[in-house]
Amino acid sequence: MTTDIQTIQDQAVAGISAATDQRSLEEARVAFLGKKGTLAAAAAGMKDIANEDKPAFGAALNKARAAITTALESKTLELQNLADQKSIAGIDLTLPARQLPAGGLHPLTIVKDRAIQILRRMGFALADGPEIETEYHCFDALNTPDDHPARNEKDTFYFDGGKLLRTHTSSVQIRTMENTTPPVRIIAPGSAYRRDDVDATHLPVFNQLEGLYVDQDVKLGDLKGTLEYFLQAMFGDNTEVRFRPHFFPFTEPSFEIDVKLHVQGQEPKWIEVAGCGMVDPAVFKSISKQRGDESFAPAKVTGYAFGMGIDRLAMIQYGIKDIRALIENDTRFLSQFA
Ligand code: PHE
Repeated sequence: MTTDIQTIQDQAVAGISAATDQRSLEEARVAFLGKKGTLAAAAAGMKDIANEDKPAFGAALNKARAAITTALESKTLELQNLADQKSIAGIDLTLPARQLPAGGLHPLTIVKDRAIQILRRMGFALADGPEIETEYHCFDALNTPDDHPARNEKDTFYFDGGKLLRTHTSSVQIRTMENTTPPVRIIAPGSAYRRDDVDATHLPVFNQLEGLYVDQDVKLGDLKGTLEYFLQAMFGDNTEVRFRPHFFPFTEPSFEIDVKLHVQGQEPKWIEVAGCGMVDPAVFKSISKQRGDESFAPAKVTGYAFGMGIDRLAMIQYGIKDIRALIENDTRFLSQFA
């Protein structure tokens, strides 16, 4: 009987080593080790064996199973190696890898992140608010009368329910003052929307960064110094900055800020980057009424606010003369900044 088992083992090992692919190897495994395989059939003969011969018979069975298993494993490895070699045949593994283009940040993201970094270092904390706004937060609370042109349907995207796409990030000033008490020193980067015709300096969706500082005794000089410092930190110490008197309903006095834009091969020109001013006491009055307390009473606090165009900052930073380049997703343009 044990010699029969030895024969089975020999046949199995020979059959396995003759296998030429995974499939014939699997067939050999089933034929020898499977439930209905030859080894199982031989094991079934155990019941006809005399008791004293059973241990030797069992040992022979175990030895055969182990030998067949080992043969299977080494054949599997051998076939795998062959397959691996076949799949790389003809490929020169010493060739340098092909360069995959690495992604990069969009110039707007780079500029926005830098602006935030500088302003945070100056003590401003991040704040935000919704892009779909109420008229109250976008206009009324900002002392903007019903007949102000910015509220016109020709200039602003309205929803049927009366809400609108915020026309500026200044609504975040209001939302912040509703929820905190002075001192307030925040910046709020985000999108703003206007029904502007698209041209080299206007897009209907653009990016702003709002700033608000409210405390006791905040003065115009603080505003001017802060913004000049910021713009020079952004664009270099020699950056030329000018403040032009302007009008905003929610600040008094108000200014627009221009920075000199240098584009290679062109005359330098002033480009408007921000609006700013001292928070109008009417805004504090309206907030105080809304809050029902005196935290922002105009007799107690003063403040300044500014709203910068991030797209404009990017144009100045990189000498981009057409704002549309920022949204066209042309990788030939964008890859310059990555
Ligand atoms: N909200 C103004 C605009 O979008 C900018 C601004 C912000 C002006 C804060 C003054 C103070 O044009």
